[in-house]
Amino acid sequence: MEKKFKRTTVTSALPYANGPVHIGHLAGVYVPADIYVRYLRLKKEDVLFIGGSDEHGVPITIRARKEGVTPQDIVDRYHTLIKESFKEFGISFDVYGRTSSEVHRQTASDFFRKLYDKGEFIEKTSMQYYDEEAGTFLADRYITGECPHCHAEGAYGDQCEKCGTSLSPTELINPKSAISGSQPVMRETKHWYLPLDKHEAWLREWILEGHKEWRNNVYGQCKSWLDMGLQPRAVSRDLDWGIPVPVEGAEGKVLYVWFDAPIGYISNTKELLPDSWEKWWKDPETRLVHFIGKDNIVFHCIVFPSMLKAEGSYILPDNVPSNEFLNLEGDKISTSRNWAVWLHEYLRDFPGKQDVLRYVLTANAPETKDNDFTWKDFQARNNNELVAVYGNFVNRALQLTQKYYNGIVPACGELTDYDKETLNEFKDVKAKVEELLDVFKFRDAQKEAMNLARIGNKYIADSEPWKVVKTDPERVKTIIYISLQLTANLAIAFEPFLPFSSEKLRKMLNMDSFEWNQLGSTELLTPGHQLATPELLFEKIEDDAIQAQVQKLLDTKKANEEANYKANPIKENIAFEDFEKLDIRVGTVLECTKVPKADKLLCFKIADGLENRTIVSGIAKYYKPEELVGKQVCFIANLAPRKLKGIESQGMILSALDNDGSLSVVTVNREVKPGSEVC
Ligand code: MF3
Ligand code: ZN
Repeated sequence: MEKKFKRTTVTSALPYANGPVHIGHLAGVYVPADIYVRYLRLKKEDVLFIGGSDEHGVPITIRARKEGVTPQDIVDRYHTLIKESFKEFGISFDVYGRTSSEVHRQTASDFFRKLYDKGEFIEKTSMQYYDEEAGTFLADRYITGECPHCHAEGAYGDQCEKCGTSLSPTELINPKSAISGSQPVMRETKHWYLPLDKHEAWLREWILEGHKEWRNNVYGQCKSWLDMGLQPRAVSRDLDWGIPVPVEGAEGKVLYVWFDAPIGYISNTKELLPDSWEKWWKDPETRLVHFIGKDNIVFHCIVFPSMLKAEGSYILPDNVPSNEFLNLEGDKISTSRNWAVWLHEYLRDFPGKQDVLRYVLTANAPETKDNDFTWKDFQARNNNELVAVYGNFVNRALQLTQKYYNGIVPACGELTDYDKETLNEFKDVKAKVEELLDVFKFRDAQKEAMNLARIGNKYIADSEPWKVVKTDPERVKTIIYISLQLTANLAIAFEPFLPFSSEKLRKMLNMDSFEWNQLGSTELLTPGHQLATPELLFEKIEDDAIQAQVQKLLDTKKANEEANYKANPIKENIAFEDFEKLDIRVGTVLECTKVPKADKLLCFKIADGLENRTIVSGIAKYYKPEELVGKQVCFIANLAPRKLKGIESQGMILSALDNDGSLSVVTVNREVKPGSEVC
């Protein structure tokens, strides 16, 4: 096949340097990108793998303010930690840079300036909150106030975390600056916008017509953005952390983080190859591939390409393989709730087991839909696949060689029909794996590699060399020869996926290196070649190790629940006369029924000492109606009657609100006469 491209530039999203990285990052972006790059390198293609930290943006400044350190301190800390985690997991970047570097500042600044000079931006003024005490405009996250929907205090200018509603800062009731605590005022501010609407036509053509091969989730998201119609997007912000807008009269303004971060791919290439970076970004014979998570699709498929196009001298991405999200034990991974498996912690708890995680994350990769990581599945895949299939086959082949031939590869005799059948089965594995990797189907490709080991296991089990050795020792040579060739093939096939294990296996085979092109060959190890001492390739993971991880998550859950429960602040003092206005009584529940079409409500008939009364109460989630019949409850007897679902409720039953949000009715600890006063 004729090759259209000379080289491939592979980028992986630059993670924010405001926290450590977790399995979601690895599964979504870095493992697939690394598999792809290792595969291309094995094929001896020209490839560059670009990574780095994204070190700007408001969350970093908030974190710094909270800790009383500078934003630079924060990014220094996490850049180092993240870089180290990636290295430990074998993510084989050619360069791992950072957006607080001088090369990046210069590159992003020049890029902006070029677009500015070409008239590719529009300037707009708008009204924005300004903190007069601190003398600064306020990012949305820096404004807090009462949520207009649920009336919780402490909602942010972009979102209320209590009810989850997205907000704009002007919707907040009683807005306050998170910096000085003062009430912000509206002030006019000027910003630069990238008029995406002007790019819509070519984007439609380029993506919707030209890139139908992109993954469905990517193509679909682009289509829906394009169909909604694109709007100009601000590319500057009023903030003191970031790259200054290189234009006169822009004091106190920086480039929006999503403007500078993707340029970081270019800066990091420059950092590595100051003299030859351009061919990786500007030569039409270079193929550009962005690995990202699904929340980054619009930026990589629409915004960044528009920036590149506006600049004029860059190539556009050829593909943007984006994954969906990985959940953890059924819940969304969350940094703030500490609901994650952090890579640096995994390394501490499972030293030397990087490939196990790589394997499980690929086997379960969220390629087409969100997927769930569970510790049970992690254990099962290790024990039932890596150990029982791959490890077991390799171990049998190597141990038998050791036992019968002192670890020397025997000569191959005449092939039986069954041998030929087996060899046939794995002959086309190379084509299969390639076909899948070329279209970014990593989980299926890894399955093909594992299939080789299954073929091997079956071959040894069916051939029974331990029996044959007694009757036909010559035949055993052939069986072992074939098994060893299969073993060597496994080292090649798994190389992009499980680089540490392939290296270990190569050492056991006493081979320095294999080439991808040799995959499928039955002459990888020559007769007479001395193997090294075999070791176990994988180890079983025991229940207690898994139980410890599950327990850690349960503890996190519990800690989160406790943190969520903040006892209501004690209300203002009231006069005794005010208290006396309440008529609180004890009544006996005579009847209790569900209120039709209201899943929260129960309807009570209560003996109150005079006549019976009806009270509707919102506790249906916490009690079965029959549980409460005969119980004595406390109620407010003089609350003005209200209609609930057409029923007149004559009072209110008192309940305690527990920290998990559940309700428990207030009762008396000795039976009293219905109608007794609570005082
Ligand atoms: N920091 C962003 C995130 O984690 C990704 C930035 S990708 C880049 O979502 F292209 F902007 F670098
Ligand atoms: Zn709210």
